[in-house]
Amino acid sequence: MQINRRFLSLCLAVVGLLSLATPVVAQSVNRAAIDELNTQLLYVALPLTLFVELTLVYAIYRFRNNDDPSPTVDDPGLEITWTAATAVILVFVGVSGFFVMTNPYLTPTAMADTGDPAANAATAGDELIVEVDAYQWGWSFHYPDANVTTRDRLVIPADRDVRFVMSSRDVIHSLYVPDLGIKQDVFPGTETVARTHATETGEYRLYCTELCGDGHARMHGAVVVLNETAYGDWQDRRSAA
Ligand code: CUA
Repeated sequence: MQINRRFLSLCLAVVGLLSLATPVVAQSVNRAAIDELNTQLLYVALPLTLFVELTLVYAIYRFRNNDDPSPTVDDPGLEITWTAATAVILVFVGVSGFFVMTNPYLTPTAMADTGDPAANAATAGDELIVEVDAYQWGWSFHYPDANVTTRDRLVIPADRDVRFVMSSRDVIHSLYVPDLGIKQDVFPGTETVARTHATETGEYRLYCTELCGDGHARMHGAVVVLNETAYGDWQDRRSAA
């Protein structure tokens, strides 16, 4: 009875932890793709972990007092089964990971480049371009369409594609917005691109996630996601100022 009650509370604790780990609504298309992959892999990893651990516990218990151990016998059937099962799992992990990594929001270079700037622009639609300038130690965000520049505060509209065209003035930095699923290195002398499509308005944190000198820890800022109207108002105010 005692054991049953303990087992029950253990199960409840596991269920509680799992419900904590379950994400609420994803804040961007990137984040949704990453969360979905996480859940998929968890559904594969959880039963596997339980199977391995339970087998281990069973073996320890079952053979705990074996004074006369016999050698293991070949079992080709079993070996083929576990090799094939492992292969199936690895292919599943590889394929699902591949589809998320080639998602054009996570890997913008995976977008079809037609070689024709006009056609590329048409594919991009009404994507908002933000030029990101990283330096020791801060971020500058330039909005070419409104000729607006901000420092350490990135303001973007929700429900619209945004493209960050990034470069650095000095050393390697890296733009990291965990809530929006954005992470991309920024290099001096070359451009890198990150994209997103935020779905939830709100304020998030952005960090530099590449050690870039003694001010690295201070190289953070805010990301504000506004709805279309509020974003328009913000840009008008900034342009006027
Ligand atoms: Cu910039 Cu760390």
